[in-house]
Amino acid sequence: MEKNYDRYFAPSLREARKRIKKDIETIRFEFPENLIGLVKNKKYLIKTYGCQGNEADSEKIAGILENLGFSETTQEEEADLILFNTCAIRENAESRVFGELGRVKSYKKHNPDLLLGICGCMPQEERVFNIIKEKYPYIDLVFGTHNIHKLGEYLYDAYLNKEKVVEVFSEEGKIVEGIPTKRAHERKAWVNIMYGCDEFCTYCIVPYTRGKERSRSFADIIEEVRELAKEGYQEVTLLGQNVNAYGKDLNINYTFADLLNDLWEIPIPRIRFTTSHPRDLDDATIQALAKGGNLMPHLHLPVQSGSNRILKKMNRKYTKEEYLEKVAKLKDLVPGISITTDIIVGFPGETDEDFEETLDLVQKVDFEGAFTFIFSPREGTPAAKYQDDLDSKIKKERLHRLNKLINEGYLRGNQRFEGETVKVLVEGPSQKNPELLSGYTEHNKLVNFEGDQSLVGKIVDVKIEKAYTWHLRGIIVENHS
Ligand code: 5AD
Ligand code: SF4
Repeated sequence: MEKNYDRYFAPSLREARKRIKKDIETIRFEFPENLIGLVKNKKYLIKTYGCQGNEADSEKIAGILENLGFSETTQEEEADLILFNTCAIRENAESRVFGELGRVKSYKKHNPDLLLGICGCMPQEERVFNIIKEKYPYIDLVFGTHNIHKLGEYLYDAYLNKEKVVEVFSEEGKIVEGIPTKRAHERKAWVNIMYGCDEFCTYCIVPYTRGKERSRSFADIIEEVRELAKEGYQEVTLLGQNVNAYGKDLNINYTFADLLNDLWEIPIPRIRFTTSHPRDLDDATIQALAKGGNLMPHLHLPVQSGSNRILKKMNRKYTKEEYLEKVAKLKDLVPGISITTDIIVGFPGETDEDFEETLDLVQKVDFEGAFTFIFSPREGTPAAKYQDDLDSKIKKERLHRLNKLINEGYLRGNQRFEGETVKVLVEGPSQKNPELLSGYTEHNKLVNFEGDQSLVGKIVDVKIEKAYTWHLRGIIVENHS
């Protein structure tokens, strides 16, 4: 234990890299009785960055905090606990959080009891952990992705014993079932099906921050989805870094396609999943999607690059041709499916020809949307050491050209619904124009339309009148629920 800390455990890059073959135990979380209602009249604010995995984690954190007696606030000034649930995927995600950590320090002047905490992927990085320790000593609570279930204990020590708590484990722990969850949406739910990642794409920090790939038992997943259906949820999104690898670590001969087929029978209107890895997307999964029903006709299938040379350097384990083949099969068996993707430009050594291959692939697939990024070196990953002498101006130009092409596909993907009647799960008032309602179609298209607040949480028929690049404008036809 380090001096001045009451509870201290630091992450190690070397440990995080290790993959030890062993069975992962599942334990059931019991909320310690002595912690229920521990704090009185205290408010919390969680700031969540990054992917849906973090959003799902924040719901568990909120669940634990509410059991401890906290209530939620959206106002920083009145918070007694501000917790940053962070993302490490690119440098700009990290810089933003460092800026915020500096900014919220001032609230401590007005509220000396204020606790500031950081969790999620950033503290899992050895380098970032050391920066937090050295430059942000006023942060009271530091924990990682593997020990969310211990938050109650940490706050007991922080509040009652006035201790500083720093505990980040590199090695993943057990799968913890039954952590209380305060879901952010009333009709849409995240359901983790697996944790961690074993792919080790050379640019990616996730296998180090989220640990070894481990699947939840299918019985637990099915039970959770059944419960959500009973509670009136309209949509679940199955979460994992590489959902297509579901079950491989369990050695039970039960695959992601088997899971989809089992969930297909549950009376919940919509099932989505993210993220898929093209190499592991198999025929059985495509066949499951082809059954339709509650399995939605949208697939996010990150390709990253269209150049075989770059795909190899990225350790993606598929070629452009193999990717195109899977897309052709998807389009053939699931007519009208919408395919979206992730693309990185400016990977070390990417030539003009490599980039042209990416543009060519984008044209051939006709993606209906994409998240596009400039490569960001992540310390500890192999690609951070690759020679990268491309001018940043060229990288930006490539991103710009790529985005132009992607946006054309986005618009075309929306235009195909003009004049059609589509089913929309109503989420609430539109962010841009609160007079309108907004929601998503089965193909995951954003639709705005006029309607009554009482429709929120329901699936309604909307006739599409006009398509724009980022959304559709429609008129309500009939209420189904
Ligand atoms: N630099 C840029 N983009 C990255 N991604 C992951 N790591 C990096 C990185 N080092 C992108 C990939 C991934 C998405 C979640 O983030 O495209 O699919
Ligand atoms: Fe990162 Fe690749 Fe794992 Fe996705 S599959 S989380 S890009 S290592």
